[in-house]
Amino acid sequence: MSKKIIAGNWKQNGNLKQSIKLARDIFASVKKNKYKHEIIIFPPSLYLLETQKVNRENIIKIGSQNVSAYNDGAYTGEISSSMLKDLSVKYCLVGHSERRHIIKESDKVCSSKAQRLYEKNIKIIYCIGEKLSEYKCKKTKSVIKKQIQYIFKNIGDQINSKPNNIIFAYEPVWAIGSGLVPTSKELLSTFDFIRKTVDSAGKKNKSIKLLYGGSVSPDNALSLLKTKYIDGLLIGGASLDAKKFIAICSTI
Ligand code: PGA
Repeated sequence: MSKKIIAGNWKQNGNLKQSIKLARDIFASVKKNKYKHEIIIFPPSLYLLETQKVNRENIIKIGSQNVSAYNDGAYTGEISSSMLKDLSVKYCLVGHSERRHIIKESDKVCSSKAQRLYEKNIKIIYCIGEKLSEYKCKKTKSVIKKQIQYIFKNIGDQINSKPNNIIFAYEPVWAIGSGLVPTSKELLSTFDFIRKTVDSAGKKNKSIKLLYGGSVSPDNALSLLKTKYIDGLLIGGASLDAKKFIAICSTI
């Protein structure tokens, strides 16, 4: 079995003390249990440095939830890919539905962000997924096809040169934080479609990993991880609870 990815997106939650405690609890358990999979946490940006300090032994990977679409310059409040590199950040989320739909980030902005990360050799978890209204109108595949094709059209050359620097995370918007998860039949069909769409966009793309995200819990993690073409999980709510996150890591 190839290495699975278990990623925890803490979003805008917790304070410094809680973040350090959560990181410590996760590190301790990961160190003890020696999981074979790749475990990544995405703390709030302000706490990246402190969580890195806890992770001195590099037991897990630390990722950023966001990056600026621009190189260093007059972009008040933004954090550049070179600043993330400075903190030894290994991964960054791009295109999360909360950024696409609340912050109104377009495919164009998302692809600029991915480009900045490629330039600094920081791996990208590129989120795609349909909204509830699109799901109801059976537009899931057309929405994700458009999202995938856009990124390949814009940074296809970089992806072709380093296909393993990008991972696609399918997160149906209606499944995030709702307790709802697509049926196994829907997941099989959607992941089969994503796999084919990604693979057909470049000769070396077969090694690009695909994750599922949206209401992942210790109860559904195993069946999700056993689904064909799902190489790992992107977890929101359950990643804020060390016991639940570790329980998910322990399922495989
Ligand atoms: P959730 O969030 O696990 O709380 O549904 C997933 C995500 O937003 O990545």
